[in-house]
Amino acid sequence: MSGEIFLQTVDVYKRYHAGNSIIPVLEGLDITVFRNEWIAILGASGSGKTTLLNILGALESPDKGNILCDQRSYITMNDREKAQFRLDKIGFVFQAYHMFPELSILENVRLPAMIKKSKSDSKKRAKELLEQVGLGHRISHKPSELSGGEQQRAAIARALINSPDLILADEPTGNLDSHTGEQILDIFKELHSSNEGRTIIMITHDMDVANYADRKIVLKDGRITDDL
Ligand SMILES: Nc1ncnc2c1ncn2[C@@H]1O[C@H](COP(=O)(O)OP(=O)(O)O)[C@@H](O)[C@H]1O
Ligand SMILES: [Mg+2]
Repeated sequence: MSGEIFLQTVDVYKRYHAGNSIIPVLEGLDITVFRNEWIAILGASGSGKTTLLNILGALESPDKGNILCDQRSYITMNDREKAQFRLDKIGFVFQAYHMFPELSILENVRLPAMIKKSKSDSKKRAKELLEQVGLGHRISHKPSELSGGEQQRAAIARALINSPDLILADEPTGNLDSHTGEQILDIFKELHSSNEGRTIIMITHDMDVANYADRKIVLKDGRITDDL
């Protein structure tokens, strides 16, 4: 695939210390992602996928190496700048939805816009996004009143509220049955084909899920073993 480079990991290392032992998790990763690509990162449990996603999302720092995203270098940013960068540029979708139980679905979706102090009408946009993911009739409900698949759809709407350039999804279908998972992947497919220049990086351990993406990167023992 050719085009504009959007994201690069440059010689990224990450190790965890557990007691006296060192767990090498990422061992010198060099990944280049183009704008508008949909990438699946595959690997067995414990292969470092979540660690990598957290590093790409500027939630964790590598021990060595750097991340460049949309012409910004993470190594030069302080924590406040990283938080602002995440709000402006990145939408996160997690396996476990992470909805605030006391807030309505609409309020959950609006939350990142309120934290960002967005000037635009976030209520209107949140409603539109919820319509788009098929939840227009559920906006006043609490998360506990929704199924897992519905909560994940709301989580995708929340990830989109600030119009991010990058969507980072960690096993977004991991808690769902295969039919519901397909509905979630169809939403990702629509996002991808809408051609708004959005880049998607999706983690999975499931080859059927990964096959939805343009490109599959396989992690093993901290290194890339395949880039297909
Ligand atoms: N905060 C942490 N402290 C110590 N070890 C960790 C920590 N986070 C992850 N690990 C270890 O790093 C390895 C990779 O974890 P993770 O990135 O969650 O893998 P995956 O998402 O592919 O299952 C695992 O062996 C895990 O136990
Ligand atoms: Mg994980």
